Amino acid sequence: MKPVSLLWLCAVALFGFDSVLSQTPSYGERGSDLGIQVFQQVARSKPQDNVVFSPHGVASILGMLLSGAHGDTRKQIVTALRYKKNGPYKMLRKLHKTLTAKSNLDAVVIANGLFTQEGFPLEEEFVETNRQNFQSLTRSLDFSNPQGAAAYINEWVNNNTQGHIPSLVKADMLDSALTRLVVVNSIFFKGVWKTRFQPENTKMRPFTAGNGNVYKVPMMSQLSVFNIATASTPQGLKYKVIELPYHGSSVSMLIVLPNEESTALSQILPHISTTTIQSWEKLMHARKVRLLIPKFTAQAEVDLESALIALGITDMFSEEKADFRHIISEPVFVSKALQKAKVIVNEDGTKASAATTAILLARSSPPWVTVDRPFLFLIRHNPTGTVLFMGQINQP
Ligand SMILES: *[C@@H]1O[C@H](CO)[C@@H](O)[C@H](O)[C@H]1NC(C)=O
Repeated sequence: MKPVSLLWLCAVALFGFDSVLSQTPSYGERGSDLGIQVFQQVARSKPQDNVVFSPHGVASILGMLLSGAHGDTRKQIVTALRYKKNGPYKMLRKLHKTLTAKSNLDAVVIANGLFTQEGFPLEEEFVETNRQNFQSLTRSLDFSNPQGAAAYINEWVNNNTQGHIPSLVKADMLDSALTRLVVVNSIFFKGVWKTRFQPENTKMRPFTAGNGNVYKVPMMSQLSVFNIATASTPQGLKYKVIELPYHGSSVSMLIVLPNEESTALSQILPHISTTTIQSWEKLMHARKVRLLIPKFTAQAEVDLESALIALGITDMFSEEKADFRHIISEPVFVSKALQKAKVIVNEDGTKASAATTAILLARSSPPWVTVDRPFLFLIRHNPTGTVLFMGQINQP
């Protein structure tokens, strides 16, 4: 049987403590906070399962859609992300640049794609904004062949996650007549521990799963100096934070572990935010300890719709209310939003990948036109242009 993970992999906080910390959250933190809230929603609905997730992936997809959104659809995204009303793009461009900077090049690979339907061109400004800010590639595909289009997108994701996510979209998510745009973000991270674990020290040891059962799992072990903090939730539940830095990059893994066996991870989770993560920095002390941590592989697929709706991003999923007038002239809405993620942790380090997508369809039912005000009518014989009758109706 597969052990259920008690460890919360803090993929959010991969960008460690040497980032510039300030009172106002950075754009990386604003996006991550929304992503953390999505994670909390998902984890609450699956308290016994492993969940792997990329907060930045969700923020990226929303950031890409943002420049095409209008009215309430836009307002809901901006509010949920706590972006400034006018042009978060300068900040997002900076964030994307920093994350993918040369010094990190081996560690973090981010790719963004806009896959469009042939013959249905997108608004140029939307494409240009995404190209400039997120280096988004744009490709037109033939969605009338959903198998072929899905295969192409999946190959692109597979390429950009170095084979870790071989398939993201299924052909049946792509409507052969109505698909207009598939937005995809992929993130691949590869890090080698600053101090590696010796494979000969890995032993089968007991691990108490979330359901209370005890399983034997391969437990890595090393005696080293680590940054460790003891922190506490507002309810007074204590937990430990252990930082495992990766070699040659500004990325760390942070492990969060409740102090008491009786404290469930779900009691700590609601307290996690980028502000909380920042607060750990002051509590960290370098300590020599023997750290025992399981090696593990976990993957998860998360449907984002219900979590985003719970967080107030509702209109974009509604055929009637979605307003993406700056993407394409025809009314479109998000019919599907999902993320797949995978993490492999072993003696050498970590490989983590995530792919997030939003699939936009044209409205299947034509928009309503309601004649609910005084109107004029004409009865015309078309071949001759003769108006046979006409009228004005003020009260039907
Ligand atoms: C994936 O990578 C292969 C090998 O580099 C390349 O030939 C192919 O065109 C790539 N596919 C996509 C969809 O980008």
